[in-house]
Amino acid sequence: MEKKKTKQFKIFRFNPKTDKRHYFDTFDVPYEAGMTVLQALNYIQRNLDGSLAYRSSCREGICGSCAMHINGKYCLACETQVIHVKGTVTIRPMAHLDIIKDLVVDMNPFFEKLKAIKPYLIPGDPDEGAERIQTQDERAYLNTLVDCILCGACYASCAVNGFDEDYLGPAALAKVNRFFMDSRDKADEQRLALVSDEHGVFRCHTLFNCQVVCPKNVNPTANIANLKRQIIARSLTVKFSKKGM
Ligand code: F3S
Repeated sequence: MEKKKTKQFKIFRFNPKTDKRHYFDTFDVPYEAGMTVLQALNYIQRNLDGSLAYRSSCREGICGSCAMHINGKYCLACETQVIHVKGTVTIRPMAHLDIIKDLVVDMNPFFEKLKAIKPYLIPGDPDEGAERIQTQDERAYLNTLVDCILCGACYASCAVNGFDEDYLGPAALAKVNRFFMDSRDKADEQRLALVSDEHGVFRCHTLFNCQVVCPKNVNPTANIANLKRQIIARSLTVKFSKKGM
């Protein structure tokens, strides 16, 4: 029988309870076409080092649990094939979030920011009736916007999250635009007020990292740009109308 090829994996290790600083462990993993990085991590944990910690759940790009930094890019381990990674596969945890162990980070700050932007429909007048009908075009506009799986890859890739810990970040800001653009939502001014301060959309330096790494093509950069335009358009209207224009 033909022997399987092996690939070297270099994996970030750190246990804040016992280690003074992080280090990397290397493992040789037998692989064949179709094997994902997540499957390789499973192999390592089951056969080489049972203490390796990482997150995963659905194994098919839906739950968003296995986002990590693989050879220079934030991506989902379950969607990255070993055969497509050149050379040694170097894996690091997501940036800007505290490490719980190895590749597992504390996602609480990410979800707290998401909670802060009210990620649900605010429908306005309750007398309008229970059913709020959308046209096909109105729904089609939301198609990509609703695909976010909250993996946090955009958050980790954004340099602004690294120096401003209160910056809402690309995922939460894109979510604001998702509800702002929803024809059933009636909280436009409330939503724009939530993202107008120094930790909101104007903190975004249009770095595009979030757009590049998003596994679902949500394009946070364009969503943030739309919110900026909306806020500026409103402020110009107020200024001009004050001057009687
Ligand atoms: Fe960050 Fe994306 Fe803006 S990477 S700076 S949120 S365009």
